[in-house]
Amino acid sequence: MARILTGIQSTGPPHLGNLLGAIIPAIKMSKDITNESLFFIADLHSFTTVRDKEVLKKNTYATAAAWLAFGFDTKKNFFYRQSDITQVCELSWYLNCFTPFPMLANAHSFKDKSDRLASVNSGLFTYPVLMAADILLYDADIVPVGKDQVQHLEITRDIAGAFNHVYKDSFVIPSTQIDEKVMIVNGTDGQKMSKSYNNVIDIFLPEKKLRKQIMSIKTDSLGVESPKNPAECTIFNIYSLIASNLKVKELEKKYISGGFGYGHAKQELFELICDKFKKERESFNHLMRNTDLIENELLLGAKKASKIANDVLSRVRSNIGYS
Ligand code: ADP
Ligand code: TRP
Repeated sequence: MARILTGIQSTGPPHLGNLLGAIIPAIKMSKDITNESLFFIADLHSFTTVRDKEVLKKNTYATAAAWLAFGFDTKKNFFYRQSDITQVCELSWYLNCFTPFPMLANAHSFKDKSDRLASVNSGLFTYPVLMAADILLYDADIVPVGKDQVQHLEITRDIAGAFNHVYKDSFVIPSTQIDEKVMIVNGTDGQKMSKSYNNVIDIFLPEKKLRKQIMSIKTDSLGVESPKNPAECTIFNIYSLIASNLKVKELEKKYISGGFGYGHAKQELFELICDKFKKERESFNHLMRNTDLIENELLLGAKKASKIANDVLSRVRSNIGYS
């Protein structure tokens, strides 16, 4: 059985791009009976920048609620909060002592972040080492990540290799599974949907606010009567990622025939999202109103995950010569 592990940065409720591009495919993969998935919320990583207790908590809950609402099976798999398993901090120290300083100083993501931020703390600098500890603490075989995280995975493999060279058989060396991201969801301005571009569709919003977001999708200025090109329209693009083939064909016909305005298309997209994600929206809101349900899931997950963490940490401690 392959052990698949990935960390999810908790920066608020996942948007439609996160859902279609990452969460839904990951949940699908976790259903494979030959896999065991460990998904965790990387809230220790968030602490490199977040300084507000309520924001930190709320972001964790919203992220967790989305995964649960979309049906991640926490019984078959592992679902936990990074900060609940403090063993990761201990392992991080051991790995730090095996990490060459220039390897971190040259990491792209550190260079990018340190150029943008007013104050740079050393947590941000050692971010990839904590990430290596996240992975190595659970003997993960496969780590699926986006392209931006590939260098961090290389760092993990390098540190684990160097450690194993001195202390044999301490770690499983994970393989990277690069997510080529065939599906990119566009945002309301037609660019890639991203929190940082302020162009997201948040399907968990109350209907009125969700409708407002959808109504703000940018289009060209063709009037109702003119025939329109579906391939060049953001509304149509998003619609076609969610709707059945039949519905997509129907909408395509309306675009080409004319007499169908962008306002109508937005209304159809709004209704489709409400209908398609009705169950998930309800479940998400129920969980956010009852965060004790989320807490329970995360604590049970932490209990399960800490069994693996304790075994691996004991092995490493004994290899180093600690009791
Ligand atoms: P954001 O750009 O909003 O900050 P993240 O970088 O946190 O999103 O991405 C989290 C996950 O969601 C990653 O796996 C990423 O590839 C995926 N993702 C983010 N935006 C999109 C998008 N517009 N379309 C498809 N997948 C996306
Ligand atoms: N750094 C990752 C990101 O920004 C999140 C993350 C933390 C992670 N620890 C991990 C991903 C371990 C994979 C494995 O998306």
